[in-house]
Amino acid sequence: MKKILIQLDTDPLPSTFDRVVAVDAGADEVFSYGGVTPENVTPLVHGAIFTRGPDELNHTALFIGGSNVAAGEALLAKVTETFFGPMRVSVMIDSNGSNTTAAAAVQAAARHVDLQGLRALVLGGTGPVGHRAAQILAAAGTQVRLASRSLGRAAETCVAIRSTVENATIEPATSTDDDLTQTLDGIELLIAAGAAGVQFLSADQWQSLPSLKVAIDLNAVPPVGLEGIAVTDKHADHAGKLCYGAIGIGGTKMKLHKTALAHLFDSNNLVLNTTAIAEIAAEIG
Ligand SMILES: NC(=O)c1ccc[n+]([C@@H]2O[C@H](COP(=O)([O-])OP(=O)(O)OC[C@H]3O[C@@H](n4cnc5c(N)ncnc54)[C@H](OP(=O)(O)O)[C@@H]3O)[C@@H](O)[C@H]2O)c1
Repeated sequence: MKKILIQLDTDPLPSTFDRVVAVDAGADEVFSYGGVTPENVTPLVHGAIFTRGPDELNHTALFIGGSNVAAGEALLAKVTETFFGPMRVSVMIDSNGSNTTAAAAVQAAARHVDLQGLRALVLGGTGPVGHRAAQILAAAGTQVRLASRSLGRAAETCVAIRSTVENATIEPATSTDDDLTQTLDGIELLIAAGAAGVQFLSADQWQSLPSLKVAIDLNAVPPVGLEGIAVTDKHADHAGKLCYGAIGIGGTKMKLHKTALAHLFDSNNLVLNTTAIAEIAAEIG
């Protein structure tokens, strides 16, 4: 029986990136829908769950994407609410690539340092990718500092993370010049997840941190977030720190995206969200 992936995209035009990855991950057919909302998704879900027998539903799966992560999460909530009893199919959410990128970044760090008890700083932590990287770290027992230009926005994101991660050790911080020394103090892992083309720190600012062991910059658009990291860096050594750039993380991200998609067809009851995708990243290693 053919493996069918139904792509539900919250943007008007469904992402060609997500569609190509779906084919490369082994889907035999990809049905792509754009402009999908909680209000119009129910018939699409019914079409997925009412066409094949319950014991065949693992051959059909859903993928939620699009540039707006909040819209994607609202869609996921509606999709899972529409399932009932055995009438369900597996579903993955990776709006804006946020889950796979964040999980790949954290997994890159985990290759070099023990995340439990580690002191980490996520710059740009209020964005979709930074938020999820901080969430995955907090779930791994890392002591997370989540930074924004606004302490209020950082605090709001910390509240959201505490609501999903029991016993999270996470505190808000600011990345403005006045507070930077305090924000950087004692960190061992640095993940820069700022908007494209935003530089947070000069090379001297991060390379001179005595406690820093691993630095990861997810911004591929010049200037990069951490000056001196090349986008292609993959466990490169800069001033004694292990460094990854956006493309250096990209290989793991693509592998993770494909592996997670392939898992969707293992059974008909998986919900591959931030937590589940981070678990798959840890399995890949
Ligand atoms: N390698 C990959 O495969 C991959 C995949 C997806 C994304 N990415 C990259 O990952 C990074 C994060 O993505 P995202 O979608 O989460 O980013 P985003 O939402 O565009 O930005 C993240 C945060 O950056 C801060 N920011 C925005 N403009 C700023 C400025 N001028 N100065 C300082 N801070 C600023 C904002 O925080 P505050 O307003 O709270 O300060 C924002 O929440 C991006 O660089 C993106 O290109 C890489």
